[in-house]
Amino acid sequence: MEPKIEEKERQKTETWEKFWSFEGDESLFSKLLYEFREKIWVKHFLQVALDYTAKGKVLEAGSGSALSSVHLAHQRGDEITALDLATGALELAKAAAKKYNVPIQTIKHDMTALPYPDQSFDLVWNSGTLEHFENPVPVVREMLRVGKTLITIIPAKGIGFNFFLFVTQFLPQKIAVAFVEGNEHWYNLEQWKTIMEKAGCKRVHVKKIKVIGIFDYIAGIGYSS
Ligand SMILES: C[S@@+](CC[C@H](N)C(=O)[O-])C[C@H]1O[C@@H](n2cnc3c(N)ncnc32)[C@H](O)[C@@H]1O
Repeated sequence: MEPKIEEKERQKTETWEKFWSFEGDESLFSKLLYEFREKIWVKHFLQVALDYTAKGKVLEAGSGSALSSVHLAHQRGDEITALDLATGALELAKAAAKKYNVPIQTIKHDMTALPYPDQSFDLVWNSGTLEHFENPVPVVREMLRVGKTLITIIPAKGIGFNFFLFVTQFLPQKIAVAFVEGNEHWYNLEQWKTIMEKAGCKRVHVKKIKVIGIFDYIAGIGYSS
């Protein structure tokens, strides 16, 4: 029998809690992965925010460990709120904020119904989050409701992710999840532009980002007016 929606959501939260407990554990592999993500991966995402926005009030919705936002606060002084379903993710976000001595607000909440009035943030963004939704359009629409500028970053198929998708079939789930969390949906630039436009974004601009030369991502930038 199909589980009820609430049950589905609970299962999803459990999946993410497992993911973040792996990322945050004390093993050498997890630590290296975290360092790599922070020192190399995140820089590419941070650059999109630096290129398209000015310092302001920022919500990272489905933030995970919120490393991009913490670096945004550290580098430019933005006022950050990190929102996620997973407690483990928010604990990592708090630890990163403490490490860089930046103030961030964290909130455990579902990003499909954000607890904020319309247009309360200058920027609402995330990376590696929207590809996990069956239908991202209403989620993007909700982000747009509370934000003036939207930045969405999702992985795209290419040499890097095709390789990961292949090798993760042979890895134990505990390790595989660190590379490809599962339930990803894949889009090309045009498809992602259409999704952002369907959600109501104006003046949508999409571009490819290459992380360490081989991992393709799509960045979508859109505006509420
Ligand atoms: C792959 S992670 C994002 C990683 C993060 N951007 C980073 O680069 O470190 C996706 C995040 O989305 C969160 N998430 C998924 N569905 C959500 C929902 N409905 N509401 C809030 N957060 C959600 C998960 O808990 C997870 O932390």
